[in-house]
Amino acid sequence: MIFLSSVKYFRHKVKKFFSGLLYSLRGKMRAISFHYSPEMVKKTDVHDLPFPVAWEKVADGKPLLIDIGSGHGEVLWFLSNKFYCVGFEIKSRFYRFTFAKLSKKLSAVLYKGDAYKMIPHLFKEKTIQRITVLFPDPWHKKRHQKRRPLTTEWMKSVKKFLKDDGDIIIATDWQDYADFIAIQVDKVSDEYDVSIGEYIPEKFGLPETHYYKKWVRQHRSFTYFHLKKK
Ligand SMILES: C[S@@+](CC[C@H](N)C(=O)[O-])C[C@H]1O[C@@H](n2cnc3c(N)ncnc32)[C@H](O)[C@@H]1O
Repeated sequence: MIFLSSVKYFRHKVKKFFSGLLYSLRGKMRAISFHYSPEMVKKTDVHDLPFPVAWEKVADGKPLLIDIGSGHGEVLWFLSNKFYCVGFEIKSRFYRFTFAKLSKKLSAVLYKGDAYKMIPHLFKEKTIQRITVLFPDPWHKKRHQKRRPLTTEWMKSVKKFLKDDGDIIIATDWQDYADFIAIQVDKVSDEYDVSIGEYIPEKFGLPETHYYKKWVRQHRSFTYFHLKKK
């Protein structure tokens, strides 16, 4: 019985490995024939983009900002004058609303998908200036906490995509998630200069987002984690 389930598990792992490899290879093939233009990058489905994307061909010299969980898109909307902004949103409703809102902004794109899975495919090493994760879903139920993506492993793995002076800004209103993140960042202090404090958007030149305003109305308090690459 144990033998059979180990075989099944092994087969699943092998299948997953090869389908991942195929997915990545297809993306690399697309890099040969992809015709870059800001409009093309904007309207192409995230799974049909070349891997990695040559963002410098569309960014017009602006530094890259990645916004994970863009929601109503305030970060992309307000910062696209300073950065070339790439947002990810997993929920269809938010995606459709924000995608339409950004239609005329050439320096802001939004993709529907899991940011944590897509970043390693879409970006070259040492190209991202800033990653923002504002009010990530807290996965507050005990049995769901293993789904929290802001782990030490993620922080370590994403470091190579940041520029030498790149950084990550995380903000949460959920104390239990803040405690969880504090444990994670404690284990990456060799790789990042970490600061933690009360989150105020202006401190980082960030706009007040939908969820920030919502939680302000409920008198919640906010914690930020600022990880600056060493
Ligand atoms: C609480 S909302 C915050 C939205 C926005 N950042 C704000 O501050 O108003 C969290 C958002 O992250 C999105 N999200 C959660 N996991 C994601 C993932 N793996 N990739 C992309 N978006 C994700 C959710 O769909 C949701 O819209």
